[in-house]
Parts: sequence; structure tokens; C-alpha cells
Amino acid sequence: MAERIDGKAISAQIKDEVKSKVSELKNEGIEVCLAVIQVGNDPASNVYVGNKKKACEYCGIRSESHELPESTSEDELLELIGRLNADAAVDGILVQLPLPEHISEDKVIAAIDPAKDVDGFSVNSVGALAVGKKGFRSCTPAGIIELLKRTGIEIAGRECVIIGRSNIVGKPMALMMLEQNATVTVCHSKTVNLRDVTSRADILIVAIGRPKMITAGYVKEGAVVIDVGIHRNENNKLCGDVDFDDVAGKCSYITPVPGGVGPMTIAMLMHNCVSKYL
Ligand code: GUN
Repeated sequence: MAERIDGKAISAQIKDEVKSKVSELKNEGIEVCLAVIQVGNDPASNVYVGNKKKACEYCGIRSESHELPESTSEDELLELIGRLNADAAVDGILVQLPLPEHISEDKVIAAIDPAKDVDGFSVNSVGALAVGKKGFRSCTPAGIIELLKRTGIEIAGRECVIIGRSNIVGKPMALMMLEQNATVTVCHSKTVNLRDVTSRADILIVAIGRPKMITAGYVKEGAVVIDVGIHRNENNKLCGDVDFDDVAGKCSYITPVPGGVGPMTIAMLMHNCVSKYL
């Protein structure tokens, strides 16, 4: 039976490290501040934004909340970002996605000062990652690297297969695993014989967005399985992209849903808010 990777415990450890850094900075008269922008009232975004604010409170980071109506224009949002860019008291700017359809996410992300892009979504941040320069790292894949390292899992030289090529998870994940010297393969909807590819993986990272799609038949004996998916099943219970009960009998380590990758995203966001002071 696989060992569970405890994302709740590891994320708590990271938040405590951030909290202690924030408290040190407070003693030096420095206050850390994250500006959180939400446009509209998407129910999932309400939950995510609420959790981000709670994490800020726990860590001692001031969260400056900008809750804008659905009718906000792109120009109004860009103007707010411009003001926050210029505000020396603001360390990080987070624009919760998705945005309403009349606002271009690309334009909004591009408007954020790269020095405040704590989500790590900008072309600048992703470009820095691609060429191995310092910069903000996208929180979910950075959290997965922390899960692996803090669990003592060797990455260098191992076969890593990632399913999913999104800008937020799959692509930056591939670059970060490459940076850790893994041999990396990225699979996607056009991949032929997916099972053959995933069965080679020592570390399998699944971000497909389809509930319980990955069963034991996709997994090599003894592999490490990381599940990025989060869904509600027919009984309203949370589940991932991986069929946990089926796969746990075959792999060596596995992340549960909930309590695996999920809590790491916010922990790494907190980390990014203080990283310039580390
Ligand atoms: N929407 C879903 N996940 C995220 C995230 O990590 N950051 C932002 N800004 N929006 C999201």
C-alpha cells in the first residue's frame, strides 16, 4: 500500500516558515502586503479568495481586498493594477481567475509588475523559469516540487511524466522538473497510447481535469503519483483525476484529494509574498 503524501502537514510547515519570516520583518518595521483582486462573484473563486485571505491572516501578511463588480471594464481593472504597481506598500498582486469574458486575462496578467507577480503567470515569470533565472514560480507546480523534496523523494535522473499542458500547471511543471534534472515527458489530449507513456513514469503528475481517469493500468509498480485534479463525484465527495483506491495498491507514494496538492498552492503563494526578503 502506498504512503500518502501529506499536503496538509507540509503546507502548514511552509506557512509557519512564512509566518516566522513575516514576524521578523515586522520587527524591522516592514509590513508584507498582498493585494487580492476579484471581479464578479464566481462561487469557486469566492472560496479560493476566502482561503487566500485566511492564509494571509495566519501568516501575518496584510491582505488588501479589491472586490469589483462583474460589470467592471477592462480599463478600470488595468487602472487599478497600475495604481497597485506604483504603490510601494504592496508586495504582491493577485488577480483571481477566471475573469469575466469581456476582460482579457492575457492583458491583465501582462499589466502586473513582474516584481509583484506572485502567481507567477506572466510571460516574464514563465520566461525566467524557462531560462533558469530567478523569478516568481507558479504556485501549484512549485508546491509539487516542495511536496516531493520534503517527502524525501529523489527527482534527479528519474522519468517524470506529466499529463496536461496548461500554462498554470503542465508547462511550468515540466520546466521545474527539468530544472531538478528529471527526464521529462508531457502528455496531452493528442498523445497516442497514453498508458504506454505513463507506465514508464517513476513520477507521474496528473493534471487532466477528468475525475478518476487514471487507474492502476496507467501506473508503474512503485511509482510516485501526484494528483492535481479536484472534482465532486456523484455523492458530492471530493475526488481527483486519479482513482485513489485503485492506484494506491500499486504505487509507492500518492497524494490524496483533498489534502494533497490543493493546500500547497496557497502555501506557495504565501511563500512568494515574502520571497524577495529571503
Ligand atoms: N484560479 C484558479 N487557480 C488560480 C490561481 O492559482 N491563481 C489565480 N489568480 N486564479 C486562479
